[in-house]
Amino acid sequence: MYGRDDVYTVRMFSSEEKTRAVAALLSWFDAHKRPLPWRSSYTPYEVWISEVMLQQTQMERGVQYFLRWMKRFPTLASVAEAPEEEILHYWEGLGYYRRARFLHQAAKTVMERFGRALPCAKEELASLPGLGEYTVAAILGIAYERDVVTVDANVERIFSRLFNIAEPVRKAPTATWIRRTAQELLPPGQARAYNQALMELGALVCGKAPRCPECPLLPWCEARKKGVEKSRPVLPERPKVIPVVSAHSILLWKRQILLLQRPLNGLWGGMWEFPGAMVAEKASPRETAVRSMAELGLRVEILAPLGQVRHSYTNHRLTAHFFRVEFASDFSEEQASALARRVPCRFLNWNEVGTLAMPAHHRRMADRYFSGKHRASAEQLSL
Ligand code: ADE
Repeated sequence: MYGRDDVYTVRMFSSEEKTRAVAALLSWFDAHKRPLPWRSSYTPYEVWISEVMLQQTQMERGVQYFLRWMKRFPTLASVAEAPEEEILHYWEGLGYYRRARFLHQAAKTVMERFGRALPCAKEELASLPGLGEYTVAAILGIAYERDVVTVDANVERIFSRLFNIAEPVRKAPTATWIRRTAQELLPPGQARAYNQALMELGALVCGKAPRCPECPLLPWCEARKKGVEKSRPVLPERPKVIPVVSAHSILLWKRQILLLQRPLNGLWGGMWEFPGAMVAEKASPRETAVRSMAELGLRVEILAPLGQVRHSYTNHRLTAHFFRVEFASDFSEEQASALARRVPCRFLNWNEVGTLAMPAHHRRMADRYFSGKHRASAEQLSL
């Protein structure tokens, strides 16, 4: 029992309540679970990929990405053997590309160290690149059916309502209390169903706007009894949204498109994008686009503005401006080679652009500008 009575009072279940509540939860899951693609065989590899994908995306989108991924990478070995660029390409649009890179490294490590399958020892799993506490718990609990609880935002929300916790759920000691209580409620031998039942309940019923009449845990829900279910969980203070602006040049030369590779470490590390820069407070997107090309040693002039793409990442709201530009003077093969020696860049035809990983806002602009709808640009590329 969590003893911070001065802050809030948490009434723990009796053992009978515990048995009845868990039984109600499991039978609800049995009747309502969605037929997700990894829910047929529960291979550790599939559980791993699905959980990493779902950490950053909605279920429907996650399923699409998962199916496409499994078609291309049906086994852990196929991930380990693939070039990193292809891994990133299949991750494109999911964001948090470091996860894809870790996933690739982890697959290679597994093949080298453990043979063909993910290990089932906690310490070995935790030693793999990118496998944090949640992912390790999901593989152990959901795939290997060990008695390990997985606590994600769904589970935190459910527990904050069930026990009417009036504090932010991620802060210690509340987070520890939730984990311990979720573990205490876990019916031995049924971690797969229990963990997923909680997550499914959080996704389908106990969401931001709770659908209490449909909830199997309604008889035990303290927040509902007090009429405060909509104010649970208590949210932490949100980080301020930071608006940022960038400007980029779309340059064609000999019917090829210039892309730069971002530094391997940092935001969108290793991905390919139209050259550009962040727009400083007093500067304009136009001048920034031209200046950033000048900094690469390229003299260009703007032919036309192509519009803006908005994109949110972490607590930043980015507005990216794109301009169609052309060289202001002759440009030779020698200059192109010299440029490629100075910065990681390539002149690519449209098909090649399709195979590289790009940040989502660049991909959106590329598709918008070069898709069949824009005859002029399509012709420039001889598509
Ligand atoms: N969200 C993340 N993982 C999930 C799972 N295994 N089932 C349902 N929702 C989830």
